[in-house]
Amino acid sequence: MFDTLQVNTSTAGDYSYFVGNDLRNDISEFTKRYASKKAFALVDAFVLKHHRSYFEEPLREQFTDLKIFEIPRGEQAKSADVYLKLLDHVLGNNADRSTPVFAIGGGVTGDLSGFVAATALRGLPLIHIPTTLLAMVDSSIGGKTGVNHKTGKNLIGSFYQPEAVFADVSYLRTLPEKEWVNGMSEILKYGMIHSPDIIGQLKELTDSEIDMDGNSWLDLIRQSAQIKIDVVSEDVLEAGKRAFLNFGHTYGHVLENLGNYSTYSHGEAVYAGMVGATYASNKLGSQIDLSNLLQFRSLYDFDLHGITQKPAQLVDLMMRDKKVKDGTLRLVLLKDLGEPYLYRVAEKTFVEDSWQQTLKIFY
Ligand SMILES: NC(=O)c1ccc[n+]([C@@H]2O[C@H](COP(=O)([O-])OP(=O)(O)OC[C@H]3O[C@@H](n4cnc5c(N)ncnc54)[C@H](O)[C@@H]3O)[C@@H](O)[C@H]2O)c1
Repeated sequence: MFDTLQVNTSTAGDYSYFVGNDLRNDISEFTKRYASKKAFALVDAFVLKHHRSYFEEPLREQFTDLKIFEIPRGEQAKSADVYLKLLDHVLGNNADRSTPVFAIGGGVTGDLSGFVAATALRGLPLIHIPTTLLAMVDSSIGGKTGVNHKTGKNLIGSFYQPEAVFADVSYLRTLPEKEWVNGMSEILKYGMIHSPDIIGQLKELTDSEIDMDGNSWLDLIRQSAQIKIDVVSEDVLEAGKRAFLNFGHTYGHVLENLGNYSTYSHGEAVYAGMVGATYASNKLGSQIDLSNLLQFRSLYDFDLHGITQKPAQLVDLMMRDKKVKDGTLRLVLLKDLGEPYLYRVAEKTFVEDSWQQTLKIFY
């Protein structure tokens, strides 16, 4: 194991986030705490195909009755339909309140399985085994679980904390480059809003091409997870500081939505969104060098040609974000690198300008 981080939640107890290369022994040790011989492994289809014996072996030591269920790949799986199928599986196999659920996959698997664990029998023990970079540094921490609704993303869900997270970088050996870039955006975000040193470290790992050896990323994953843990531990139910984690996201959600959640990945949309938010920050007087972000441009394989809406329309779309309160758009902006603040937008012109500039940069 490389490191163990402690997550403190005032409402739902504390849990550990383990990070390292090959955590099978740590998982075996951890699972001895469960009396149950039955457990559920809800597993991303790719991970099931390529890593089955790897995750199964330590789990079977404790859970002689391990029920495995495959989760289809892609965002479409985060639906009420798949959620109900998983409930059928869990309840149909006689789960009781002591039967643990292991969520093994990326953010889709984690959010969906987390919601199953949160709601089946009013709550089963949940353990996250994130297998994408994004899930390791972001979605497996903080307890947000849920599925999408036809009116929008993540609209059905709950806060439900896991009992542990095992971020094992050996899963990353099969991760395609696009998914590395996807996760990288969130790491870059932590650099922008919290620890600017991260930006330089990220540059080293991606300089001519992305270093796709998970071991090289261990330290950045640990630092990123620590930032997310610190923020969510202080603000478990997203009443304040946690909003800073949305840097670039209010812009990004508009792009994801216009691209029907398929044209742009979350990471691509957030990357463009961070450019917009940084530009907007500068319009209000900050002096942040945009090259902190743009030096990574060549790693991203997308453009915004397909966005035909005018900046004013894009601002209107921002107003539909679920983070808008009382009709006021609130943007996370930066006073400087590492110094975020929440800005209530009264006059929208500078936000329109920031869209104009973003569309130009990504044209
Ligand atoms: N709960 C939260 O706080 C939170 C935070 C951020 C994002 N999210 C959610 O996370 C989701 C995105 O997560 P994601 O980017 O991990 O997407 P994902 O779960 O769809 O995984 C991306 C792709 O990687 C594949 N994959 C998974 N592990 C792999 C591996 N080891 N090797 C090769 N391929 C692998 C999957 O099959 C999938 O095709 C979104 O639904 C988003 O809303 C949640």
